Amino acid sequence: MRILNVVGARPDFIKIAPLMAEYNRRQGVEAFLVHTGQHYDEAMSRLFFSELGIPQPDINLEVGSGSHAAQTAEIMTRFEPVLLSTEPDVVVVVGDVNSTFACGLVAAKLGIRLAHVEAGLRSFDRSMPEEVNRVLTDAISDLLFCTEESGIENLLNEGIPKDKVHFVGNVMIDTLLNNRAKAQESAVLNRLGVNDGRYALLTLHRPANVDDPQTFGSILDAIGVILKDMPVVFPVHPRTRMNLNSGSVGVRVGQMAGLRLTEPLGYLDFLRLMRSASVVLTDSSGIQDETAILKVPCLTLRDGTERPVTVTCGSNRIAGRDRRRILAAYRDAISPNGHGFQTPPLWDGRAARRIVDVLIQKA
Ligand code: UD1
Repeated sequence: MRILNVVGARPDFIKIAPLMAEYNRRQGVEAFLVHTGQHYDEAMSRLFFSELGIPQPDINLEVGSGSHAAQTAEIMTRFEPVLLSTEPDVVVVVGDVNSTFACGLVAAKLGIRLAHVEAGLRSFDRSMPEEVNRVLTDAISDLLFCTEESGIENLLNEGIPKDKVHFVGNVMIDTLLNNRAKAQESAVLNRLGVNDGRYALLTLHRPANVDDPQTFGSILDAIGVILKDMPVVFPVHPRTRMNLNSGSVGVRVGQMAGLRLTEPLGYLDFLRLMRSASVVLTDSSGIQDETAILKVPCLTLRDGTERPVTVTCGSNRIAGRDRRRILAAYRDAISPNGHGFQTPPLWDGRAARRIVDVLIQKA
């Protein structure tokens, strides 16, 4: 059986790692890996391949950055001949980035079976490019692999037949559990001059947060108050860096004592930093999942989440973008009252195994 797998952006590498390892363990499975090149910097791409032991991609489409339309179209144009020449039995796409939908659409139009890993998640906010990618990818997929029960419910509500939907757990958590011990060896805390359990970790990259100086400023107002309690480590995503380099927000950030800016970090350093943080503030998707397993309080700097299980399990709070709301959530998160953390069902490190079982049976 020939399985063609697609990755493009940083979170995809984390999701694909356990699947590539699992294919390798199965007889009769021939796995191809296509990198679209949506992310291409050393720190955003290659570093993850080496740290996570992902095999070198068979093909890199090298599309690079662009507007949504230009990037999506370019990926489709370059992916089609690859599919025609490799003739896979199934194409596996992960997550919700432009590469996910672009390659999914090419496969569906060529009549090749499409499997979507991390299907069904919904923020119900169509202004997010990822939400559009999720809804459209799910609509054209033949096999839909869900990380949490909300995903199944959303898919059934959208009329997706039940027999296409599989509750398998979370491949990001497979990767986390596989690398937790190794991450403990990272010297990143020393390097950044912070102590175990005595700093906050911040990540921001959503266009709605970092492309709008007013929203970015409101988040920084809250960070300014948190800095009175503890240092804040802030690995800066390239999109965010562009905004910092070009506006007044950048000047302000440069003047915030205790804010430790770094370049984007590798997987192991970042995992170490998450694990030892007192609190994590983020607009990322995957970090909401990862902190749920690490049992570290997470404040999601958005108005909602497509990952409601992280909230019901007790680790995640939807903190919005407004200074007062963020600070209220922060005080609640660090209060010593003790909040119970539960592990979401099936987030046990075996998601890739379950997915490959289904692929072999049904694809
Ligand atoms: C993309 C995904 C987002 C995901 C994020 C993870 C979409 C629509 N968005 O957002 O869902 O959460 O990746 O990081 O697919 N850039 C570099 N080097 C790189 C990659 C990008 O400098 O290796 C810069 C470019 O200037 C680019 C900008 O970052 O224009 C944004 O990159 P892009 O892939 O378009 O979107 P992200 O914001 O990274």
